[in-house]
Amino acid sequence: MKQYQVGIIGATGMVGQRFATLLAEHPWFHVAALAASPRSAGKTYQEAVSNRWAMAVPMPESMKNMVLFDATADIEKIAGMVDFVFCAVDMKKDEIRALEERYAKAECPVVSNNSAHRFTKDVPMVIPEVNPDHIEIIESQRKRLGTKRGFIAVKSNCSIQSYVPALSPLRKFGIKNILACTYQAISGAGKTFETWPDIVDNLVPYIGGEEEKSEKEPLKVWGKIEGDEIVSTDSPLITTQCLRVPVSDGHTAAVFVSFENKPPKEEILGIWEDFKGVPQQLELPSAPKQFIHYFQEDDRPQAKLDRNLENGMAVSVGRLREDTMFDYKFVCLSHNTLRGAAGGGVLLAELLAAKGYFD
Ligand SMILES: NC(=O)c1ccc[n+]([C@@H]2O[C@H](COP(=O)([O-])OP(=O)(O)OC[C@H]3O[C@@H](n4cnc5c(N)ncnc54)[C@H](OP(=O)(O)O)[C@@H]3O)[C@@H](O)[C@H]2O)c1
Repeated sequence: MKQYQVGIIGATGMVGQRFATLLAEHPWFHVAALAASPRSAGKTYQEAVSNRWAMAVPMPESMKNMVLFDATADIEKIAGMVDFVFCAVDMKKDEIRALEERYAKAECPVVSNNSAHRFTKDVPMVIPEVNPDHIEIIESQRKRLGTKRGFIAVKSNCSIQSYVPALSPLRKFGIKNILACTYQAISGAGKTFETWPDIVDNLVPYIGGEEEKSEKEPLKVWGKIEGDEIVSTDSPLITTQCLRVPVSDGHTAAVFVSFENKPPKEEILGIWEDFKGVPQQLELPSAPKQFIHYFQEDDRPQAKLDRNLENGMAVSVGRLREDTMFDYKFVCLSHNTLRGAAGGGVLLAELLAAKGYFD
């Protein structure tokens, strides 16, 4: 496979650090540029992050002495050094939209973890096992932007990364209604137990904007390309409640679902067992071998025990059973900063590379 030079925009942040650790030994991608805000620009990665390093593994040696660029002022320079960038920055939405478009227009493709472009009509929002075909909209986007190779592709919000994979292969039974309550880890808020001691022995029943994302984003992921845009599907009806819980990593969802044609439980279990997407068929380096793991034990999946399954890229499901109001209910879990953030971004980039979008 061809080797690609990549940049990390927002390298000093929680998601950026995760990108750095995932890319340090990547077989296809080599980190050639790191960038962050003007506060960090000009410092080495080690100096800029200093006591903010939040990963369980040490900072990659190869990156410690790399000097950070200014993500905005140095766009042309960075675009000249890399084949594409990963982007995860904490800025205002309209600033992020503009920043990502500037990279794309500088002919530098952007694989983004930010939400700013998730509902731009010709920007694909991709879970690689679920809607890999949506990347075909990139040709329309390039026409709009007037670019030859520049484009923006995004990944979806971490909250939907467990239940959308589990429900996607069941859509053929005509999903009518979905109710999902999510129990989300504190790393999703960029926090640890040290930086957020008040979350210990506590639960916060509100995560700003999360319920809207959790209800709207699946409809775009399940949508289809029509002309120059991706049109969201208008069903099923989805309602959610999103809670912050005292868990370091791993978002759990309690899901209820009704179908037009209710399948037998054994058929659902078989479908999950057999579910393979394009990443598994192409054997992409970050793809889990078994995308959906079903646990027979009543007390699984558990965040602490199961979030790291297949390097945090698999989805764990358990407790599938009939319900009194819906047809079925079950529990699912995915690692929010791996599959739900940087890992999902790396897998999307691998899909784009395998399909020739960075050439
Ligand atoms: N945490 C998660 O699990 C998660 C999951 C999915 C998506 N996301 C999204 O990913 C993005 C980053 O999240 P995070 O948790 O990594 O945030 P974070 O830890 O606060 O890091 C923010 C990053 O943005 C950079 N930045 C801030 N202002 C900037 C500016 N004016 N110009 C250029 N860079 C700037 C920071 O650089 P300095 O260090 O120089 O300030 C830092 O590298 C957000 O859009 C978030 O919604 C996060």
